[in-house]
Amino acid sequence: MTEDLKRLSQEAIAASAVADDPDYPCFHVVPPVGRLNDPNGLLVDGDTYHAFYQLSPFHPHRKLVYWGHSSSTDLLHWRHHAPAVIPDSSYDLSGAYSGNAIVLEGHEVDAAPTRAPFQLFYTGNLKDPVTDERTASQCLVTSGDLTDFAKWPGNPLIPAHAEGYTSHYRDPQVFRDPDRPGEYRMLIGVQRADETGAAVLYRSRDLVSWELEGELSFPGAGGAFDAFGYMWECPGLVRLKDEDTGEDWDVLIWCPQGITPDREGFENIFPCVYTVGHLVGTELRDTGGVFHEVDRGFEFYAPQVFARRPSEPGPVLLTGWAGNASEDDQPSIETGQWVHALTMPRILSLKAGRLIQCPAASLPYDAGEPALVGECVKAGLYEIDELSGHRSWQLRLEADAEQTTGPWGLQIGSDDSHVDITLDRQVLRVDRSTSRYAQHGSVRSVTLPEGCAPVLEVIHDRSLTEVFVGDGALVLTLRSFVDVNSTGARLMVDGDLALTAGSTRTFAPS
Ligand code: FRU
Repeated sequence: MTEDLKRLSQEAIAASAVADDPDYPCFHVVPPVGRLNDPNGLLVDGDTYHAFYQLSPFHPHRKLVYWGHSSSTDLLHWRHHAPAVIPDSSYDLSGAYSGNAIVLEGHEVDAAPTRAPFQLFYTGNLKDPVTDERTASQCLVTSGDLTDFAKWPGNPLIPAHAEGYTSHYRDPQVFRDPDRPGEYRMLIGVQRADETGAAVLYRSRDLVSWELEGELSFPGAGGAFDAFGYMWECPGLVRLKDEDTGEDWDVLIWCPQGITPDREGFENIFPCVYTVGHLVGTELRDTGGVFHEVDRGFEFYAPQVFARRPSEPGPVLLTGWAGNASEDDQPSIETGQWVHALTMPRILSLKAGRLIQCPAASLPYDAGEPALVGECVKAGLYEIDELSGHRSWQLRLEADAEQTTGPWGLQIGSDDSHVDITLDRQVLRVDRSTSRYAQHGSVRSVTLPEGCAPVLEVIHDRSLTEVFVGDGALVLTLRSFVDVNSTGARLMVDGDLALTAGSTRTFAPS
């Protein structure tokens, strides 16, 4: 008898104990039960943001990935919905893996055989129970209202990997071809038969029949990306205008597993990087072989941007998984049988070839300016009164570089269990060694990009912290399981600190 996977997931969600867990974030996307990993199919529909994500509802007892679904109108308060993609078809029985969404409008809807505005693409994962052999196919789910979701009867769209590659062939990103109106492209992360990573491109006019165009290549990159790790996961292309030059660039963001760059950073087992070029056919030109990490934190992976209707343009919003690899052994598994979260969506822009990421949500800052602003603060530890009593908050501080003579930063947590975030001139240092979760790295020192202003913005939500320095020039995401009885944060000053501006806001669990 086949299992009723929809009912089983609903039962797991109904029995969930997450709401009682003091570590469960209150203004981020978190799983209703079980394990969350990559964001999937992010999209904007009018005034509502929809986030789908990899959800294993039976974790840690059984690994089976669905697409979970949450929505929000302010990017702060998220509602859980029933899972949107259930892995109950012959081609996805071992999991509905990652993918993205595209929102059609007007004649685009009429031109699509599915006649639906919301098109969600994913990888059907199938493992032979006897041989363990994997088949990866690319599949389509559509919806007219984002409440009911229907798998396309013609699935799978692309039944298996192309010749020359292994079955590590997944994570489709579908986008409109800006150069050929009415045509779509699909970028897929792959492993070549020689076990090196790459990405391939397909092309379609109707979103259901796809033709292989070829492998993405990087002319002029000096071979930098030719043998760049053993598998590329979650590749995505996004077009951004450089704020300095006004020129359009195609930014490729992806997760090359198994690279070993000879420089600072890349401490995570699985990195997430970007390079900036011009996509012409299947060539990403003008990258010069230059790449950077998207986020310097311990926990960050598989980001993607929100899809929008062309007639409803808005900022480019990026959200990532605040997790990495299989680092599942977190305190929340014990207390609430859930693990991982998505980052706060970030507004993405490009300046002098580098990504700038600023927190997207902008409610009025209700808790006001910290009293310490305007004073010259001497060495010591100062409670930030505006945050006292709160475990979910956002804080922004600007310092005067001339008058600030020593390291300064924030301490979150209690004397015994805390996370320290310190700016020491051009270095950001994060230390979570006394917190309840540090298995995969406890201290990280990051050289700030040149000219980075002494502006520190921190989003802290119970057990998740995102650190932004220099108005989005550098971002570092980490899980921060500090003392559950501690609230607020303290300003750490070692020398003189002149704060010129600051603001705060706090959040209560809904
Ligand atoms: C990245 C990833 C994807 C895959 C999904 C499975 O974290 O491994 O490549 O589609 O997770 O959950």
